[in-house]
Amino acid sequence: MAWLAIPRPLALLLATSLFGNARAVINLDLTSTESIIAAAGTIAYDMMTYYKGNLSGQTPGLLPGPPPNPQITNAGYFWWEAGAMFGSMIDYWYYTGDSTYNDVVSQGLLFQTGPDNDYLPQNQTNGMGNDDQGFWGMSAMTAAELGFPNPPANQPQWLALAQGVYNTQLPRFDNICGGGLHWQAYSVLNGYNYKNSIANGCFFNIASRLAVYTGNNSYAVNAESTWDWITNVGFIDPNYNVYDGASTTTNCTPVNKQEYSYNTAVWLLGAAHMYNYTNGSQIWHDRVDGLVTAAINNFFPNGIAYEKICEAVPSKCSIDMLSFKAYLTRWMAAATKQAPFIYDRVKAVLEKSATAAALQCNGSPADHPNGRMCGLSWSMGTTWDGTSGVGQQMAAMEVIQSNLIQQAKAPLTSNTGGTSKGNPTAGQGDTTNPGGVKPITTADRAGAGILTALVAAVVLSGLAWVSMPEKTS
Ligand SMILES: *[C@@H]1O[C@H](CO)[C@@H](O)[C@H](O)[C@H]1NC(C)=O
Ligand SMILES: *[C@@H]1O[C@H](CO)[C@@H](O)[C@H](O)[C@H]1NC(C)=O
Ligand SMILES: *[C@@H]1O[C@H](CO)[C@@H](O)[C@H](O)[C@H]1NC(C)=O
Ligand SMILES: *[C@@H]1O[C@H](CO)[C@@H](O)[C@H](O)[C@H]1NC(C)=O
Ligand SMILES: *[C@@H]1O[C@H](CO)[C@@H](O)[C@H](O)[C@H]1NC(C)=O
Repeated sequence: MAWLAIPRPLALLLATSLFGNARAVINLDLTSTESIIAAAGTIAYDMMTYYKGNLSGQTPGLLPGPPPNPQITNAGYFWWEAGAMFGSMIDYWYYTGDSTYNDVVSQGLLFQTGPDNDYLPQNQTNGMGNDDQGFWGMSAMTAAELGFPNPPANQPQWLALAQGVYNTQLPRFDNICGGGLHWQAYSVLNGYNYKNSIANGCFFNIASRLAVYTGNNSYAVNAESTWDWITNVGFIDPNYNVYDGASTTTNCTPVNKQEYSYNTAVWLLGAAHMYNYTNGSQIWHDRVDGLVTAAINNFFPNGIAYEKICEAVPSKCSIDMLSFKAYLTRWMAAATKQAPFIYDRVKAVLEKSATAAALQCNGSPADHPNGRMCGLSWSMGTTWDGTSGVGQQMAAMEVIQSNLIQQAKAPLTSNTGGTSKGNPTAGQGDTTNPGGVKPITTADRAGAGILTALVAAVVLSGLAWVSMPEKTS
């Protein structure tokens, strides 16, 4: 932690003189498919060295987590980020054809489904955000769409897992602030009194994708109503800026106007699916267009992806935030498949960002002294910013491999060769999820108590605020 507290100019000097070699280590030629695949492969390999869940004695599906008493927010990876990482590795296989990690990815995704196959594993109850559950659900949806190898018949199937997430979240909507999901899944959790763009965006994203994959209109109806609510409550403004959220104790005013790149992108990919589902309707065309414009204007100064809330001083980025550019770039790329009219604008920033990201992968942190770990600060060229981790690897990998989006096959639907088996009632019998109100247990009370003390000190941002007490069980 001491390292992160060093002022940036000094940190940069140290990074450059002690650890960085100030030259490009990952050679990336965007005109060559082989070069893109090789660069993504190196970065994926280094990312997966953080994952120990497939080693004996470890728990499949988890990254090294934060300590039980999370005074230090940047000390480990929360449950949701592992789910996001497996999704990025499905992308990796889709773009590169390299199946090296497929078994490890399947094992992780299947171990964390929880007893009712809806990504509500009991170990995570005390920190279960709708967004945390949603990230695992989106990865299962990606597996179905990209034709990732189906699990054995006696295991839950990708499509059914995404439906399980959708079905357990639907009853959690209420009329506070006129609609929407709370941030947290259960009313006993701190952060329940907050409604936000990421929790509702994950639901919208899954619902719109289920509509396209299954052709079942009821998913589209609920995606549409979620869009109507988020715009009415002002979390998305008329210029398609996407703000973080607001407190339900004050009827969702004022809106907390912090902007995170993944919020814009999670809504963009959903809107692109609604555009596709409606056969290119003008109304969804305009929404996709507005979100792409806002994404590029807000998060790509000079064409290079930039997490503006914290990137100027990377030590201000939480572990969660360090990964957001992974979702920004992967979802922009995926959106071009559903709404091809945005391709040229998206490709331009993916190219520039990928080139910049590759230059930033030349760090040698103490725990990975290989001279090629990726920093967050793609705008800094070969001057490594001194940071490293799963989020930075994931973001660099996604932005680089996303440059293969045009030649990658179209995502599947049940009408175009998708073989993942669904279950429209998945998750509906889950007794841990009676409309979002979970019976209070002693462990919950303890977890909530710890949080109440902490919350006052922690800035309201990202997922980490509420995800903290996950390890109390
Ligand atoms: C665990 O996964 C890694 C790839 O991430 C692989 O290299 C390693 O062999 C796996 N170990 C076991 C015991 O399966
Ligand atoms: C839950 O935690 C227990 C104890 O650490 C562990 O044995 C089990 O594998 C975990 N289950 C999941 C789904 O993470
Ligand atoms: C889109 O077009 C297809 C094929 O013409 C049609 O079956 C479907 O109903 C249309 N969908 C919508 C939402 O209009
Ligand atoms: C919908 O997506 C498919 C698959 O990527 C694509 O071929 C089609 O052109 C898209 N439809 C519209 C209206 O853009
Ligand atoms: C469509 O989805 C809804 C909501 O999950 C479900 O109740 C219904 O049975 C589905 N219809 C079909 C034909 O699968």
